[in-house]
Amino acid sequence: MLSIVFSSVILALLLTFSHKFLTGDGDFTLLSKGKVKRESFQDKVVWITGASRGIGEVLAKQLATLGAKLIISARNEPELERVKNQISALNLGKHGPEGVEILPLDLSSGEDAIREVVEKAISLFGGAGVDYVIHNAAFERPKSTALDVPEASLNATLDVNVVGPISLTRLLLPHMLKKGKGHFVVMSSAAGKAPAPGQAVYSASKFALNGYFHSLRSEFYQKGIMVTVVCPGPIEASNAPATSTASKEKRVSSERCAELVLVAVSHGLKEAWISYQPVLAVMYLVQYMPSVGFWLMDKIGAKRVETAAKKGNTYSMNLLFGRKKE
Ligand SMILES: NC(=O)c1ccc[n+]([C@@H]2O[C@H](COP(=O)([O-])OP(=O)(O)OC[C@H]3O[C@@H](n4cnc5c(N)ncnc54)[C@H](OP(=O)(O)O)[C@@H]3O)[C@@H](O)[C@H]2O)c1
Ligand SMILES: *[C@@H]1O[C@H](CO)[C@@H](O)[C@H](O)[C@H]1NC(C)=O
Repeated sequence: MLSIVFSSVILALLLTFSHKFLTGDGDFTLLSKGKVKRESFQDKVVWITGASRGIGEVLAKQLATLGAKLIISARNEPELERVKNQISALNLGKHGPEGVEILPLDLSSGEDAIREVVEKAISLFGGAGVDYVIHNAAFERPKSTALDVPEASLNATLDVNVVGPISLTRLLLPHMLKKGKGHFVVMSSAAGKAPAPGQAVYSASKFALNGYFHSLRSEFYQKGIMVTVVCPGPIEASNAPATSTASKEKRVSSERCAELVLVAVSHGLKEAWISYQPVLAVMYLVQYMPSVGFWLMDKIGAKRVETAAKKGNTYSMNLLFGRKKE
């Protein structure tokens, strides 16, 4: 009798667990945290790079709603103006238009230029300094084989995704240490956790970020410096053209992605994964059973590059089991 009760409980747990795993849009720890803690962002200064479109723009709007003061950066100033105007027009923040500062930034412009931008950032909002930086800007080129990467695009990927964010961090960190606190949020990628055939250099740039920022946190955690590395799989841009390959893939919306980023940050998670299946399962496999994960990726890698060239679904299980007739 007791054993029947016991096995039913185990079975129910297993079913709940696998249901969550199959239908969830993030890792177990992240999904167990529930809602964003509002007080984490209320009246705090949050600097977002790459806020002129995509996930960065959505993050800016959600953070305004949560009562944060924003510094929004990217190269395209008119687009930053548009984001700021939308935040004021929709009355999203309690700070009004004064709660959003535009700070143009080119992450590939070298350390001296970035130093000037950092000095400007800490002088904003009456010299309040910066509580959170969201390293969200990135350069991503269309998928291609690793053989086919021109030097200019190699440079751009590493400059914008790695060297720029590291310089910015190194220049800002002393100010955070003086205040005794600061939180770096890093938009990495599933490509920073697992092989990403067709995106070798992009993947290299995201692995580099993970290595740098987890190391940085372990050096300065005792001094109040926090790092959250976020690894999203495929995300649906809210303004993506319907004709893009995106429409064929099941993607987490950029609104939900931004919400989960803020859940992870406000609950102090050190790493968080955001994705539907099958990408989430691949991340778990590569993390916990690398020989199986790498075996799987080696089976589908070449086909994925080929599929990308034909603008097909590069996250499909069909890469493994053969393609359905269309
Ligand atoms: N979308 C996805 O499916 C996905 C999946 C996993 C991870 N991610 C990561 O999530 C982040 C946001 O992705 P997204 O798709 O929203 O990106 P996106 O739409 O391509 O936007 C990229 C942002 O970065 C800025 N940027 C580009 N080059 C820059 C430079 N040299 N200096 C400063 N800013 C620059 C762009 O603004 P300007 O052009 O005006 O400079 C833009 O605001 C990225 O780190 C990306 O790698 C995205
Ligand atoms: C790429 O970067 C290297 C090292 O900074 C530089 O020497 C080279 O000229 C750059 N190439 C291009 C095409 O920009």
